[in-house]
Amino acid sequence: MASIKGSANVVIIGGGVIGLTIARALALRGVRDVCLVERAGLGSEASFAAAGMLLPQVEADAQDDFFTLACQSRDLYPSFAAALHEETGIDIELDTTGTLYLALTEHDQQEIETRYDWQSRAGLPVELLSASAARELEPCISDSIRGALLFPNDIQVENRRLLSALANTVSKLGVEIVTQTNVDSLLIEGNCVRGVQTNRGRIECSLAVIAAGSWTSFIKSSSPCRIPEIEPVRGQMICLESKPQLTRHVIYSPRGYLVPRRDGRLLAGSTSERVGFAKYVTAGGIGSILRNALEISPAIANLPIVDTWAGLRPHAAGGLPVLGRCDEIDGLFYATGHYRNGILLAPVTGELVSKEIVSFKR
Ligand code: FAD
Ligand code: GLY
Repeated sequence: MASIKGSANVVIIGGGVIGLTIARALALRGVRDVCLVERAGLGSEASFAAAGMLLPQVEADAQDDFFTLACQSRDLYPSFAAALHEETGIDIELDTTGTLYLALTEHDQQEIETRYDWQSRAGLPVELLSASAARELEPCISDSIRGALLFPNDIQVENRRLLSALANTVSKLGVEIVTQTNVDSLLIEGNCVRGVQTNRGRIECSLAVIAAGSWTSFIKSSSPCRIPEIEPVRGQMICLESKPQLTRHVIYSPRGYLVPRRDGRLLAGSTSERVGFAKYVTAGGIGSILRNALEISPAIANLPIVDTWAGLRPHAAGGLPVLGRCDEIDGLFYATGHYRNGILLAPVTGELVSKEIVSFKR
């Protein structure tokens, strides 16, 4: 294995969608000598496991700061996708058909009515559909549906193509990529970042970004500083094959979702399990995903299952992402804890964190 470079201007720890998007945003802002260090392969963890849904409105109960940030990020996607296509020739398959949120029980029906009331009063794009109108849009939906919401602006992206495009563009933009290398600790003197210690040697730098997802809390520091506590939350997924495709919309219920891909894959998700770093699928997990997917659409019953996998969502205390400058250590930045929404929040995270780094003065 080639030896690693001993110094950089900025070191990004973690090569998932978040680290890669920040690396690209820094390079586009003219920051030189950026080095991204990845423990395994680029985009091989949660970002690869995700379903690629960009749904700020579907699950939102209020118009709070998180909601505003999430909508902002979703609305950056068309220009983000176009720019990545221009830079790499890779189509990240941004699909703007929209999302249907189904009510399948009386409780679900109350929930969608409440969501419809506040979002329509706030002037957000959402339509309340009768059961028959929803089934007219997507005939595969169960006939026990009671009603649905159509969110025309909540869309999806092919997250694995997104990762390929990001990996391609950062390397063209001159970012140094070091894979199969673990950052063990931050090197801090006084209250300033001086470098990172990896299992293959030291990289001196004055700026470091922690984008290590579920593994964030393993990074040590040579002086006491609060590394965010991030807990992994396992999500299992099933991939069915549907040719012709069963649905055009993403279909969501309070218990599960179906995501149609352009090539005939139909993803069904997911579980939310606090089981540490046990990243595998289980009989119980697969069983519950299938039950919830069949509740949405009994028509999936005869489709072949072509793949299953699990990923670890990075969950911070309080459930919100940890973004931006560390108050205690000069030169340290966080971009972690994106939990269920890291694909959605990637463009805005790249913009915010790169802007802060560029304007950072000691
Ligand atoms: P990761 O992709 O996990 O990347 C972190 C990287 O850091 C890893 O590659 C890891 O190897 C590396 N690393 C860790 N520690 C070190 C170290 N010390 N040194 C070097 N490298 C290190 N989000 C959405 O927006 N929409 C969805 O539809 C969606 N669906 C999901 C479905 C499932 C089943 C799962 C599991 C997640 C889903 N998510 C979704 C959430 C989303 O996948 C995550 O929020 C997002 O991928 C987090 O990105 P990340 O870059 O922070 O983490
Ligand atoms: N955002 C979908 C999931 O995390 O399962």
